[in-house]
Amino acid sequence: MNGEKILLGVSGGIAAYKACELVRRLRERGAEVQVVMTENATRFVTPATFQALSGRPVRTSLWDEAAEAAMGHIELARWADRIVIAPASAETMARLAHGHASDLLGTVCLATDRPVFLAPAMNHLMWRNAATTANVALLQSRGFRMLGPDRGEQACGETGEGRMMEPAAIVDALAKWPLRSDRLAGLRVLVNAGPTLEDIDPVRYIGNRSSGKMGFAVAEAAQLAGADVCLVAGPVNLPTPAGVRRIDIRSAAQLLAVMLAEAPGVDIVIASAAVADFRVREIAPQKIKRGPEGIHLDLVPNPDVLAEVARLQPKPFLVGFAAETENVLEYARRKLAKKNIDLIAANDVARPGCGFDANENALTLIGAESQWHFAQAGKFELARQLIDRIALCFRSRS
Ligand code: CTP
Repeated sequence: MNGEKILLGVSGGIAAYKACELVRRLRERGAEVQVVMTENATRFVTPATFQALSGRPVRTSLWDEAAEAAMGHIELARWADRIVIAPASAETMARLAHGHASDLLGTVCLATDRPVFLAPAMNHLMWRNAATTANVALLQSRGFRMLGPDRGEQACGETGEGRMMEPAAIVDALAKWPLRSDRLAGLRVLVNAGPTLEDIDPVRYIGNRSSGKMGFAVAEAAQLAGADVCLVAGPVNLPTPAGVRRIDIRSAAQLLAVMLAEAPGVDIVIASAAVADFRVREIAPQKIKRGPEGIHLDLVPNPDVLAEVARLQPKPFLVGFAAETENVLEYARRKLAKKNIDLIAANDVARPGCGFDANENALTLIGAESQWHFAQAGKFELARQLIDRIALCFRSRS
């Protein structure tokens, strides 16, 4: 969002106070924010507040001669890379749906060809009202994009759907939007993610600390880049990214079977799963009883799933992950050669704030002849950068 010009429309509703935080968060991401308030919005928050937060004079009227002389409403519409209306009241959406140009915000929305995002905020009955539902459907059919609303407690004391999405979630949703590209268009991508769990008996298992967040972010980023994505997931507590086909597995043996079944015909395989390296030779059919002498587990190695996929002919373009706590790049390079893969993303899981279960990560992507470092960032942002690079490497492979 760095350098992006966002016109933030604020309409009349108690959630207008949350738009103050939204301005701050957008500016933190490097966006320029121009606030346009409806007259009703000024009854909830003063223009002075938004002026201080955005660092730009706030526009409230079509009839402000001085402001119009500085930047007319048509110029204002052209200035914006996109328009975000938060909160979008029932009244504002009704006017937008019917093309009213009776105030500055409505006029700017008519005079733009840029994407317009709406974050509705209203009482749950107003949101469910047939008139609002019809207006929203009309707006969506004309390309307006909806952000929320959320469910929860409302300012009126009732509970239901109609709360404005939280500013942080709005910013995240906006940050993802321009990431749609066609870098992987027409390609099939198979991603694995999360841990595998190896049962010891009906109640116990061997596991690891993988949360699956990085792999899910990679699957989402690949889908947004136009790929047809299948995600093979170990037991994790994460929602399936939109448009992604998901297959759940539990053990390394199940992962291997699914990967070998799915990989033929796939263009790119990205293996981020933290596969358990060992399993018990035999899973006990009944719960093992606790005794004073302790327990010895007879562990046998699991297959190397990625190395097995690398034996397929024709071989897909293969990207592995290397979770290391020391000698990160050296160990990762060895795995690249040993597993016969094209790229490996080396991940220092001992680094504070990164790695397993964290929301951020830092990676070095290593190929046979080059390497690229990706600085610490949110996992989705990192996944997006990784997918861009993987796409370039895939397209330029010999
Ligand atoms: N991998 C795999 N099957 C395994 C182990 C690992 O497919 N049995 C894949 C992972 O999905 C990852 C890459 O191989 O893409 C490297 O995984 P990692 O756990 O870092 O390495 P290991 O091969 O397990 O080596 P070590 O545990 O000794 O570091």
